[in-house]
Amino acid sequence: MALAVYAGSFDPLTNGHMAIIRSGLRLAERLVVAIGAQSDKKPLFTAKERQGLIMAALKSLPPPDRKRVEVITFSGLLAAKAQALKADFLLRGLRGGADLEYELQMAAVNRSLAPNLPTVFLPAEEGSRFISSSMLRQLAALGGNVAAFAPANVAQALAAKYAALKS
Ligand code: COA
Repeated sequence: MALAVYAGSFDPLTNGHMAIIRSGLRLAERLVVAIGAQSDKKPLFTAKERQGLIMAALKSLPPPDRKRVEVITFSGLLAAKAQALKADFLLRGLRGGADLEYELQMAAVNRSLAPNLPTVFLPAEEGSRFISSSMLRQLAALGGNVAAFAPANVAQALAAKYAALKS
């Protein structure tokens, strides 16, 4: 029973992340989506809000798949958390060449901290190569419609967040 950990900031979840989750479920019996609560990035959504958004978005998965995904928040080292969970591998999406150096560096650091924890990269789907969480935040902040790039609940939460910040 392989267990994969898919870690990220998910601020917020995008359709690109959802595609990686769906593909990850073909590789592993269990998938833990792990939200990094501590980050150099100043998040728009709290870790708890990000967790709630991902859990709500996962309702779009068929029930047997949904049961195989867990969403957690973590702080500290990802390698330590994944080892504590007895993960078999880390999962990351690769959108293109721009991601590669950074992702290889992260994979190497994690592998040196946890030698039995390889990182498996999945190529982003054609339609989500250009999506990032910050692009979504920027679009929503300027009143743009993000419905094509994120699950419906995330698009609503982004609009509500920026409306609240403006009021
Ligand atoms: N679809 C859409 N967007 C994607 C994507 C995909 N398939 N794959 C990556 N991205 C985007 C994200 O939206 C994010 O965009 P943003 O920068 O505009 O917000 C960006 O790529 C990369 O962010 P993310 O995937 O969230 O990873 P991260 O680089 O912020 O790292 C952790 C987050 C939690 C994995 C990392 O900080 C971590 O491991 N923290 C623990 C500390 C640790 O162990 N450090 C040592 C390891 S180096």
